[in-house]
Formats: sequence, C-alpha cells, structure tokens
Amino acid sequence: MTKTVILYGTESGNAEMVADDFVDALSSDHDVESIDMSDFDVADFDTDTFYLVVCSTHGDGELPSSARPFGAALDAEQPDLSGIRYSIFGMGDSSYETYSHGSEIIDEKLRALGATREGVYGRHDASDGSLPTDDALAWLEGVFEPA
Ligand SMILES: Cc1cc2nc3c(=O)[nH]c(=O)nc-3n(C[C@H](O)[C@H](O)[C@H](O)COP(=O)(O)O)c2cc1C
Repeated sequence: MTKTVILYGTESGNAEMVADDFVDALSSDHDVESIDMSDFDVADFDTDTFYLVVCSTHGDGELPSSARPFGAALDAEQPDLSGIRYSIFGMGDSSYETYSHGSEIIDEKLRALGATREGVYGRHDASDGSLPTDDALAWLEGVFEPA
C-alpha cells in the first residue's frame, strides 16, 4: 500500500485540524500519518509516499510559522523532488488580496524542485462562513477518486 503523509503548515491550528480530519477519514484503508512541516526533514521525501499538503497563509500573503523552516530548508537544500507526487489544500481568507498565497509559495517551491502536483488545487476561504472540515473532506474525496 502506498503510504500517505499529510504535511501541514499552520499558525493558529486550522491546518492541523484539517490534517487530523484527513487522518481520520483515511486511516481505515490507508497507511497515513500527519506531520507538522516544522518537524519534517526535506531529505526524507520519498517517491513511495503520496503527500497531502495543507497550508494556511499569514501576515500579508506569507507562510504560517510552522511552514517557514520547511520553506527555508527547500531553498537551502534544493532536494531533487522528481518522482514526488502531492496534492495541496490551501487555507486562507479571500478578504485579503493575498488569498491563499502561503500554500502557493509551498506549491511553487515543490514544483520548482521537480515534484508533481496532482488533482484539483483545494482551498478553504475563512470569510465565506464554511467549515474547514466540510470543504476539506469534500476536496479529499476528489483526490482519492478512482481514475
Ligand atoms: C493575522 C492574520 C493574517 C492573515 N493573513 C492572510 C493572508 O494574507 N491571506 C489569506 O488568504 N489569509 C490570511 N489569513 C487567514 C488565515 O489564513 C485563515 O484564518 C486560516 O484558516 C488560518 O489557518 P491556520 O490556523 O492553520 O494558520 C490571516 C489570518 C490572520 C489571523
């Protein structure tokens, strides 16, 4: 079974909550774990693992605090990510001009290093009154839909 790792970057916990929802939804028939980006060594990316990236945005279109060391390590270490597959779910607030940019920063870094993004780019907009869990789980169903 292909392993699934959920990598989350958060400032105030919403992305971690979504990562936990993904673990709950997948654990019955997937080998899955969630890891805070700040605890993940970029040398550990593995082509036998599928990555679900969940990342919020803070400041003015910047990375949340737990994603900053991960972003800096990608820049500094430039790992070869060819063969790495991932899907991404961005969390933000469309009242900001920089809606969801934090996740886009991570997405651009991963693709620049050779990783391949699969499926629809997921988003949660905190200003539309929807629950992160509802939007995230609806998106997840699309990611794991049979081809
Ligand atoms: C101080 C602050 C700054 C924010 N800046 C942005 C932003 O620039 N762009 C955006 O899309 N959302 C922004 N947001 C919204 C957050 O991304 C959103 O609330 C998200 O759900 C937080 O997820 P987290 O708890 O995982 O960090 C900001 C929120 C706060 C409190």
